[in-house]
Amino acid sequence: MHFVAIAIDGPAASGKSSVARRVAEHFGFLFINSGAMYRAFTWWVLENRVNPADSAAVLSLLHRSRFECALHGRESVIRIDDRDVTEACMRLEAVNGTVSTIAALPEVRRVLVARQQDFRSMGDVVMEGRDIGTVVFPDTPFKFFLEASAEVRERRRRAQGIDDNIRERDLKDSSREADPLRAAADARRIDTSHLTLEEVTAKVIEILQIEGVKPRPPARPVMSWVYRLTYDVSKAFFRTAYAMEVHHAERAAIPGGAYFAANHASFLDPPLVGTALEEPIHYLARNTLFKPPLFTWLLPRLNTVPVDRDNAELSSLRISMQLVKEGKKMVVFPEGTRTPDGSLQPAQRGVGLLVAKTGVPVIPVRIFGSFEAFPRNRKFPRLDGKIHVVFGHPIQFSEEELAAKGKAGQQAISERVMQAIANLAVPENGS
Ligand code: DC
Repeated sequence: MHFVAIAIDGPAASGKSSVARRVAEHFGFLFINSGAMYRAFTWWVLENRVNPADSAAVLSLLHRSRFECALHGRESVIRIDDRDVTEACMRLEAVNGTVSTIAALPEVRRVLVARQQDFRSMGDVVMEGRDIGTVVFPDTPFKFFLEASAEVRERRRRAQGIDDNIRERDLKDSSREADPLRAAADARRIDTSHLTLEEVTAKVIEILQIEGVKPRPPARPVMSWVYRLTYDVSKAFFRTAYAMEVHHAERAAIPGGAYFAANHASFLDPPLVGTALEEPIHYLARNTLFKPPLFTWLLPRLNTVPVDRDNAELSSLRISMQLVKEGKKMVVFPEGTRTPDGSLQPAQRGVGLLVAKTGVPVIPVRIFGSFEAFPRNRKFPRLDGKIHVVFGHPIQFSEEELAAKGKAGQQAISERVMQAIANLAVPENGS
């Protein structure tokens, strides 16, 4: 699926954010504020008492930090090393004064631009910033560059009660070497000095409509009819037989490919994770399971990739890595096989290998009650009991963790994942 990207660039206080948010609302697209990512990392630099002028120290922090860029509703949110970066953090005066220095570092831009591009795998986006039309989405035909005189922009900031030396920031942002603030040659320039927010928004919407951009209903994930039917039947079964409850599925709403890593107690686990989500995901299954003719036909249609346990599993692992690199999500079981007694088993190295090779985030998932419902030693499931599926915050590994070579590095990643699964509990308020 090819999603639309609308790029809105311009200097500080040109009205980009407000216009971009309204345009996104009008079309039902995602709204992504790329400046927030530079601000979030700048806050993190200050929070860690790293000297912003010491680029080696800043880059070292960059590489050992874990960035989680997710969606909350239709807007992006960011967490760094498990800390929520709030709006208040990002608007601190110290951040205003430092962000341009940090955003001038090409390595910082490389890391954050890749994250920005990932959002387009989740749906149509309106993204605002400085280099969206030139660097992040240079191929999009929908580019705007908002301008306004420096006096007008300063007045706007003062009216917001924000102390922000925007002239100095603009100078730094447009004179830096790496992806400077500038209008793409094919961007439409709009001078907003004498226009209200509503007028600018209306103008942008009108141009986009003329160019054929249509409002989209909230992107419904595409399931084939076989997947949909199996999904609906399984979900109804889990709800009826086990009063299945799902907790924090919103944490799975991250752009791009990822692995769901769940504890494994039962054959029910793959469909439990699959039906806890609204989007179709991918699975791995023993190749012997594909033998019966019905399954030969069905499993590939349920996005299941066969794994050969006896021979080196290279081809299936390669397929799995290819899928997540294409932006798909796949469920894996770090313990390797179903628990014999209901307790969590030590992590195998496999997940670490997949993560180290692909660099994608891992979303931990803890399933409660599937062992009681259908343990290893039973032929058929029990038809009562209670099942909970709990999603954890995505784990984005730092570049350092991913670069750790060899088996020990992969084992360390697997163990971190297993620990995150072990830490999950059913929320007390039942949310
Ligand atoms: O849009 P903003 O004022 O919140 O952005 C804060 C800073 O982040 C801005 O001064 C420069 C930097 N930035 C950037 O370099 N590239 C972007 N695409 C967005 C922001």
